[in-house]
Amino acid sequence: MANSIGHVIIDLTTIDSTNNYAIRLIEEGMAEHGMVIRADYQTAGKGQLGNTWYADEGKNLLCSIILDMTAFKLSKQFLLNKYISVCITEILTTQLEIDKICIKWPNDIYADKSKIAGILIENIIRGSEWKYAVVGIGLNVNQPKMEALKKATSILIETGKIANINQVLKKFLKLLEMNFNTMINTPYTIEEKYQNTLLLIGQNISIKKNHEVYDGTLSGVDDDGNILIKIKDKIKKYRHKEIELLLD
Ligand code: BTN
Repeated sequence: MANSIGHVIIDLTTIDSTNNYAIRLIEEGMAEHGMVIRADYQTAGKGQLGNTWYADEGKNLLCSIILDMTAFKLSKQFLLNKYISVCITEILTTQLEIDKICIKWPNDIYADKSKIAGILIENIIRGSEWKYAVVGIGLNVNQPKMEALKKATSILIETGKIANINQVLKKFLKLLEMNFNTMINTPYTIEEKYQNTLLLIGQNISIKKNHEVYDGTLSGVDDDGNILIKIKDKIKKYRHKEIELLLD
């Protein structure tokens, strides 16, 4: 039987990036499905689109989870983003009782209009086989102010209470374990939850593409992770990086 997610947790004080650490383990042949790397501080934390992920020491959840993806087709890559996003929203909503938690396409987690968590998935592909995914998660937990980022928040800011980072991690890993097989057996339940939790779904939005702003309605996200926007009665689809979703 496969190891459960979180059966090994490697706790580090300082590291360049927990994602890099996980990738090194895979490259050295030391990785197992379900291993988790957690750090108090990252000197070179990685964000999406080559950005740096800043987080104060010891105040946030910074972790990477190694998943064996050999049971999945490469074409299902975005399903993994959906599963992770849905599990984070579920923890924040049901266990931490934070209001207005939603997913901002493609996979940022927001509390109302402020980002509370980010996800960076790095895939290890050999030939045409999806071997591993390294799922990096930065969840703002006990950070009182978000100096480096505008429009960001934390569990502390939202609830007024200090949360136990380890307990949040344990609950999250349990939920990931419970839902991992759902990706194989009933992926549509994940798709449905993702769509229902999507920020601004069915609402009028503005996007920026090549310095031009367009207005439309957010209709959904397809299986490949493209956003679907109805502009002048036509559904248009856009890739991540192709457009910017404008939030006020
Ligand atoms: C984003 O830009 O929204 C994604 C941020 C992901 C940050 C996490 S922190 C733990 C893991 N290690 C990294 O270097 N990045 C991810």
